[in-house]
Amino acid sequence: MESSNTQNNTYAKGLEGVIAAETEIGFVDGQEGRLVYRGYDISVLSENSNYEEISYLLNFGKLPNRKQMTEYLEQMRANSEVPQDTYDLIQTYGKKAHPMVTLRTVISNLASYDPRESDSSIENQKRIAISIIAKMPAIVGAIHRTILGKDILKSRSELSYAGSFLYYALGRNPDPVETKIMDTALMLHADHGMNASTFSALVTISTLADIYSATTSAISTLKGPLHGGANERALKMIMDIGSPEKAGPYLEAMVARKEKIMGFGHRVYKVYDPRAKILKKYASYISEKSDKKSIFETANKVEEIMINKLGEKGIFPNVDFYSGMIYYSMGLTPEIFTPIFALGRISGWTARSLEYLQNNKLFRPKALYVGERGPKTYISIQERQ
Ligand SMILES: CC(C)(COP(=O)(O)OP(=O)(O)OC[C@H]1O[C@@H](n2cnc3c(N)ncnc32)[C@H](O)[C@@H]1OP(=O)(O)O)[C@@H](O)C(=O)NCCC(=O)NCCS
Repeated sequence: MESSNTQNNTYAKGLEGVIAAETEIGFVDGQEGRLVYRGYDISVLSENSNYEEISYLLNFGKLPNRKQMTEYLEQMRANSEVPQDTYDLIQTYGKKAHPMVTLRTVISNLASYDPRESDSSIENQKRIAISIIAKMPAIVGAIHRTILGKDILKSRSELSYAGSFLYYALGRNPDPVETKIMDTALMLHADHGMNASTFSALVTISTLADIYSATTSAISTLKGPLHGGANERALKMIMDIGSPEKAGPYLEAMVARKEKIMGFGHRVYKVYDPRAKILKKYASYISEKSDKKSIFETANKVEEIMINKLGEKGIFPNVDFYSGMIYYSMGLTPEIFTPIFALGRISGWTARSLEYLQNNKLFRPKALYVGERGPKTYISIQERQ
């Protein structure tokens, strides 16, 4: 950690290692390779639960009983309709803009239909959270259709969260296995500690702005390649390699050029990312089913070589290594991978924003001034060189 002690304050570049909030929502154990949502291990949740339950668990503190689940699904259904103006915006932006630009613009724009967006009471902000979560499958699906130059599909409310996203995105009914795999990927992306996009949501909500604003900030932050873009680049690398026999020389060359291998390494996990472990088995299944087995075989070889080479340094596959090939095998275009990340993470962003709001304190850190202290003499523009 790059840090120094100055003026009785500790400076930590990038806030690395700084604890900025308390939370009961989720915990990442980088040494043991565990991801926990409110006490439940992600491996248990991903086997037994579904995205809707996880969304409830994160936002409302416990797994829902049947009545609560029915009510939550009813609320989601009631809020799932996307305004026509939003679809028009998607069609205008979606053909030329980065899909994350389209996504943040339309989420921000949803606030313009909401006369109560500024009421910062918890109840009202929870209402907004549910409203955004409910609309995300149709919105991200519509962005995918627009990128492909295809018609936008409207409402299939009887499908699950993951199933309706696949329907909106692919224009066909997904089969149960595809739906289970997408549901699992969304569960695994729902929350992940104080990552950059979650932190930016908290900074925004701490001003008593609203959940539309917090979510828009988070989406903007996720856009960056250091956060949300690695799965697309990992897939591109595997496709560039082309076959398992070419993996060795390709990786040697990358290491010699001191390039990072995409989809490997993590700031927190120093062991195998538990999310990657779960996704790997699905990647194997779906790539074989969709005739893209060679992508998985190449990836598997890359993993074997990398673990031999860099496992000792704590570098293992992360969630992005296998998620991209899963989405691609389902027929989704790589440009939509980061919006899919947002589709999963939306429940974590809202949950953490609501939690922070209940015990709010405005974020206002300091910067270490390293400029001139002066006082310098002011010279008028006429005399300035
Ligand atoms: C995620 C990431 C930024 C975390 O990095 P970090 O904890 O800050 O670690 P550093 O970047 O400081 O790397 C530490 C050492 O491991 C090496 N390393 C880390 N990730 C590596 C990778 N993917 N490929 C090759 N070497 C890697 C670094 O070169 C460095 O080596 P050195 O000590 O000899 O200089 C980094 O692993 C990375 O860029 N990975 C690739 C992108 C990616 O998959 N991102 C998605 C994360 S979920």
